[in-house]
Amino acid sequence: MTSNRAVLQSVSQLASTAHDSRTLMAETAHLLQRERPHYHWVGFYMLEGDVLVLGPFVGKLTEHVRIPLNQGICGAAASTGETVVIDDVTADPRYLACSLETRSEIVVPIRRDGRVMGELDLDSDTPAAFTTDDRALLEQVAEIIGTYL
Ligand code: SME
Repeated sequence: MTSNRAVLQSVSQLASTAHDSRTLMAETAHLLQRERPHYHWVGFYMLEGDVLVLGPFVGKLTEHVRIPLNQGICGAAASTGETVVIDDVTADPRYLACSLETRSEIVVPIRRDGRVMGELDLDSDTPAAFTTDDRALLEQVAEIIGTYL
């Protein structure tokens, strides 16, 4: 498996050559899914007022294209500014279902100058798929993306 370090180098490389932030997000989503096959859905939500709006993603279409800050795992992560890791989505009443196969989820806020601008959301069909290693990787990816927003 490609190391976190190498994946982060690739994201930095994408960031230094991307034409705009949406292209960077789309390319990063594809890169993450290619490098980590247990990331079945990878997408970005951007904060517009008090609603999270779906941006670039890879994986199945979702009906959750606009999520108010007070709803879902996505809303929880953006409103607290903290990463949320859910090992079993069926046990969390906040969870908004995207795909019936999804078993676990991680949502990482993306900040620019300390302010939450959006988030990186990942789903996996495997229970408890997101380890501390995944969390470390994704928090650093969010940091790189944040500096280019
Ligand atoms: N599960 C998320 C909704 C977004 S989909 O996973 C793409 C949530 O509970 O906020």
